[in-house]
Amino acid sequence: VNSEKIRIRGPGFCYDVHVGRGLIGHVGQLARATVRGNQAAVITDSNVPRQLVDEAVASLAAADLQVTKIIVPAGENSKSFRAVERVCGEMPALDRTSVVVGIGGGVVGDLSGFVAAIFHRGIPHMQIPTTLLAMVDSAIGGKTGVNLATGKNLVGAVHHPSLVIADMEVLTTLPERELRQGMVEIVKHAIIRDAEMFALLSTSSLDFARDDKLIARNIRIKAAIVSSDDRDISGERALLNFGHTIGHGIERASDFRIPHGECVSLGIVAACQISIKHAGLPINQRDQVIDLLQKIGLPTRLQGGIARDRVLQAIARDKKFENGAVRFVVTPSIGQAYLSREVTMKDLENALAAL
Ligand SMILES: NC(=O)c1ccc[n+]([C@@H]2O[C@H](COP(=O)([O-])OP(=O)(O)OC[C@H]3O[C@@H](n4cnc5c(N)ncnc54)[C@H](O)[C@@H]3O)[C@@H](O)[C@H]2O)c1
Ligand SMILES: [Zn+2]
Repeated sequence: VNSEKIRIRGPGFCYDVHVGRGLIGHVGQLARATVRGNQAAVITDSNVPRQLVDEAVASLAAADLQVTKIIVPAGENSKSFRAVERVCGEMPALDRTSVVVGIGGGVVGDLSGFVAAIFHRGIPHMQIPTTLLAMVDSAIGGKTGVNLATGKNLVGAVHHPSLVIADMEVLTTLPERELRQGMVEIVKHAIIRDAEMFALLSTSSLDFARDDKLIARNIRIKAAIVSSDDRDISGERALLNFGHTIGHGIERASDFRIPHGECVSLGIVAACQISIKHAGLPINQRDQVIDLLQKIGLPTRLQGGIARDRVLQAIARDKKFENGAVRFVVTPSIGQAYLSREVTMKDLENALAAL
């Protein structure tokens, strides 16, 4: 085993994230440090490689945990109340000393975390993220929840995990397109917080998604932001929305046909455009962002018959406008970001027109 431990601490929570290789075979041992009881529910989905899940279950069993394995269908539809009800119903042996273990991507993380948040009014949650996005983004920060027919992530709870285990080896089976979903959030982290990482990404070869050091670096960035503002109060956490206002608009205008990461890639390009006007971002830095996204294989031009006015309508419905302006994250220079209150609908329209 070759791993690094990152401690995440904030008001009312403290937990470790283990990042490394060969950790799956040791999850039982690691779990024992935080779990009091002898029952565990493993929640995973039908696309997570069976071998990976079996290895984790065997390790938990070897640490004297009785495991109930629950497999939900892969896909966003499993982030639903129906799934929550089914999963809770399959955990009769669990009590407050038990642990819920999510093994999978963000869908499994959000569902299992929400189940842990509400089962017996809250029991410990362990995250074993198996997608790049889950490792660098969704497994960190404590946001859990499910979707409603009226919108995504509308119901949920802040429930921090008690342990996160990110084993890079599981990424070898992850399809390229799924890897890119995580890379977008890495580029986002670089733009809002880490100019040096941006330079590194821009000049290095593209296997960086399987680079332990880089994943640990991104976990630290997200951890630092959410630790200081885990309930979205100071506005610090809002910086993580960089590229997401327009990204979400595109996602909805495409009826969720375009994956989140690709929409956010477009949203990042548009946010850079707006940052030129409102934050003084140098034009050549916008171009560096576009080059990096293209190098990764992410879209930087709006195509595929997405109507720009539908995107604008989706944003208008979603966002509160105060005096004609929307809270919008801008970057004055790669590595920095802040919340501007000067961005108007017209700015969004112009940025979309240029996309
Ligand atoms: N809670 C948060 O803070 C937060 C942040 C960002 C995103 N999210 C949520 O995360 C979800 C998206 O997560 P995602 O991109 O990980 O998608 P996902 O969970 O749907 O996983 C993508 C696909 O990859 C499969 N898979 C997972 N691990 C694999 C592996 N090692 N090898 C092969 N296949 C594997 C999954 O079964 C699934 O089919 C969304 O619901 C989003 O709302 C939550
Ligand atoms: Zn995102």
